[in-house]
Amino acid sequence: MELLNFIGGEWIEDASLQTMPVINPANGEQLGTIPLSTKSQVELAAKKAKEAQRSWALVPAPKRADYLYEIAFKLKEKKEQLAQTLTKEMGKVIEEARGEVQEGIDMALYMAAEGRRLFGETVPSELPNKFAMSVRAPIGVAGLITPWNFPIAIATWKAFPALVAGNTVVWKPSNETPFMAYELAKIFEEAGLPPGVVNIVFGSGPTVGTAIVEHPDIRIISFTGSTTTGSKVAELGGKHLKKVSLEMGGKNAVIVMDDANLDLALEGILWSAFGTAGQRCTACSRVIVHKDVKQELEQRLVEAAKQLTVGNGLDPAIKVGPVINKAALEKINHYVQIGKQQGANLLLGGEILTDGDLANGHYFAPTIFTDVEATSILAQEEIFGPVISIIEVSSLEEAIEVNNNVKFGLSSSIFSQDVNKIFKAQQLLDTGIVYVNAGTTGAEIHLPFGGTKGTGNGHRDSGQAALDVYTEWKSIYVDYSGKLQRAQIDNNA
Ligand code: UN1
Repeated sequence: MELLNFIGGEWIEDASLQTMPVINPANGEQLGTIPLSTKSQVELAAKKAKEAQRSWALVPAPKRADYLYEIAFKLKEKKEQLAQTLTKEMGKVIEEARGEVQEGIDMALYMAAEGRRLFGETVPSELPNKFAMSVRAPIGVAGLITPWNFPIAIATWKAFPALVAGNTVVWKPSNETPFMAYELAKIFEEAGLPPGVVNIVFGSGPTVGTAIVEHPDIRIISFTGSTTTGSKVAELGGKHLKKVSLEMGGKNAVIVMDDANLDLALEGILWSAFGTAGQRCTACSRVIVHKDVKQELEQRLVEAAKQLTVGNGLDPAIKVGPVINKAALEKINHYVQIGKQQGANLLLGGEILTDGDLANGHYFAPTIFTDVEATSILAQEEIFGPVISIIEVSSLEEAIEVNNNVKFGLSSSIFSQDVNKIFKAQQLLDTGIVYVNAGTTGAEIHLPFGGTKGTGNGHRDSGQAALDVYTEWKSIYVDYSGKLQRAQIDNNA
């Protein structure tokens, strides 16, 4: 199927554009093509978005929210079909794909409810007969650049707060996962969203992404992806004085203390390390374990990870799907080789899987290294695959230090039964998300999502915090005294 750009409420055919195939990472099957758009498609999208924004912002927020409710109901109706398509284009196992679609439904309902809140402040004025308040005002046109690992959830984290607040959107989805964007666009059409409110432009980061970030009418950019690209987006966006919200890499750790419930820790690690084949920003890629339980934990982890079935995620018996493409497979393999060279002890996996049908897809074996140096490349850089590094520590203080001593700060987790250790840890772990007695994944949509240091630049997706990204504060003073009252001067008379 040939996917088309969706601009100004129309599916734009443009034979002059080159196309790129969309491949199912599980078996190499070609699912369709996308156009490789140029700057002029972004310009058209920005123009349509700007034109639509004036009237969209004047639609009362509860009415804008009604569209989001409608979108939520349609997402719900199509949940299974969307999940199947998601698994085909992205590779995650079907159960997780359903979970991701659910995340989009949750976000639609949550942001729809914001249509009847969008709270500002009212404060007493320092002068008599004067009223003071602040309201959230839309920024204008939002430029969204979204990744392939959560192609529907992350799009909804960004688009829905932008829309409920009165912005319109120019969206560049990942080239790897355009079908989720196409499906969402169809739902927007069915829900009757006015033309131009959401525009989708397919194409490469350097061409389409750059054109979005540089476009003078797109004043807020929200990006999720790699730290390297995010830093370029921030630099370019900064040059054009834009608001730039970034959500980037992670090197997330599960800390297992000597008093932990090991059964639970084991499950938490397996799920957060090997779920989504390790391709979550929040995936566990380090296990920081107290020396007294290290041997038992690593033995049990290896035994359990051996049981994980790897294959096409459409089969419900499969636990670990493919990774997104050949480049990802090679990158994971590269880090595994470095780990071996640098003396980490490979306990399981460490190889590309090519047996039988697996040869047609991109599969990497669940991989466990132990005795990994906390400062080694394996334990410092984001791998984005099913690879964990076990690091031994002797105390909670050391565990926290190891956790914090990486350039990222997205998610961390501690398994312990000791309330004192837990509270100390949640205070000192320097990540944007902390889990207690659960793995590093599984954020819920109504709390802020994002991280510190190399993971972000101070903004958050999800929750109320997302509204801060897509709104400007407008402070309004209404003087009904009938005379000139000077703040800071006349109230001292
Ligand atoms: C991501 O990996 O970028 O918390 C998003 C989680 C999911 C979202 C992950 N709800 O793991």
